[in-house]
Amino acid sequence: MGNKSLCLLIATVLVAYYIYSPIPENVEDHWKLMFISAAFRTVGHVAAVAEKLGLAHYMDIMMVITSMEYAAPASDEKVTVRDTEFNGVPVRLYIPKDQPDSLKRAVIFIHGGGWCVGGSAMKPYDLLSRWTSERLNAVVVSVEYRLAPKYHFPVQFEDVYTVVKYFLQSSVLEQYNVEPSRVCISGDSAGGNLAAAVAQQLLDDPGVKVKLKIQVLLYPVLQTIDLDLPSYQDNENMPILPKSLMLRFFSEYFTTDISLNKAMETNQHVPAELSHLFKFVNWSHWLPERFKKGHIYTSPAHGSSKLGQKYPGFLDPRAAPLLVDDIKLRGLPLTYVVTCQYDVLRDDGLMYVSRLREAGVPVIHEHAEDAVHGATLFIASPFVLTMGKRIANNYIEWLNKNL
Ligand SMILES: *[C@@H]1O[C@H](CO)[C@@H](O)[C@H](O)[C@H]1NC(C)=O
Repeated sequence: MGNKSLCLLIATVLVAYYIYSPIPENVEDHWKLMFISAAFRTVGHVAAVAEKLGLAHYMDIMMVITSMEYAAPASDEKVTVRDTEFNGVPVRLYIPKDQPDSLKRAVIFIHGGGWCVGGSAMKPYDLLSRWTSERLNAVVVSVEYRLAPKYHFPVQFEDVYTVVKYFLQSSVLEQYNVEPSRVCISGDSAGGNLAAAVAQQLLDDPGVKVKLKIQVLLYPVLQTIDLDLPSYQDNENMPILPKSLMLRFFSEYFTTDISLNKAMETNQHVPAELSHLFKFVNWSHWLPERFKKGHIYTSPAHGSSKLGQKYPGFLDPRAAPLLVDDIKLRGLPLTYVVTCQYDVLRDDGLMYVSRLREAGVPVIHEHAEDAVHGATLFIASPFVLTMGKRIANNYIEWLNKNL
């Protein structure tokens, strides 16, 4: 074998080794997912190096994926799409062309991306909103909230809240021909976090008369205080959202001070005086038996109270909707929750389902046994995954029947 072929062989082995990641047997589109995962990981590596060299913030590089996937607001024969502002916050609006004078349903959609990346104009989000508008003949408002690290909590929450409050005014609903009793809030991942938080806060807002009919939470983030749940342990290195990235998103939501991130890595970020909050996320109590398998419950260790004082946001229910008493859950609308088996956030969703049911809230829960986090991001070519299309279709179909 010549030197050249030897080099080629070594290079091939290295590339294969880099691309290869163990993906569970029952996940479809094995190879496609492996390549997508390798692409995501590469961006993460570049981000880490750029940050080490002081060239850019980690999230500025991660944002490249969002920018590359930008889709201009393009109307088609069925839906008018345009970018506008609601009370100073940018939104992308989808208005169906069919039966322009009939009263319509509405979906307020909040995209994911760990409060740091993503956008309503990102191809898969644009497509999901377009499908929703088209198939439900509904008005869709997709919120373009400000992102970390430039803006921290509660800016993201407040931007979404501003839009929801503006849209739910009778005069505005009338302007868009929306039936006030048929409005839904929906979001995926960090967008599911914002949707859940907004739905809770609306219950206590005397300034909002219109009630949401439905909340949809697609593999949402719902708590900040136990970052070592069985799902975090089992799915630490799964594609799309490894634990390390989730913790980075989390800490960036509150601060760019890396000490919060470091404390989260060892699950020692909650000060002792707040240990009463652990009961809300006690997985030994709230997880269905089959998800506890192979795990033994231990309460998270306590961290320094300095962090809790410096960044109180991470214990705020507007950031962690699981951290509220049952009484705060009772008035919530019909809820549709999707959880994915191979997702660090799986147990957040599962625990919220248990807690909502115990509080008497009607919940429809779809657990995708074969899916990874962020599945519905993969519905737009060239990155299409069967699981993404299935989850997106089931969600839209369910909304069509229930909204
Ligand atoms: C968690 O739940 C288990 C079982 O229900 C219970 O024994 C334990 O005391 C709880 N721990 C906390 C911190 O709530």
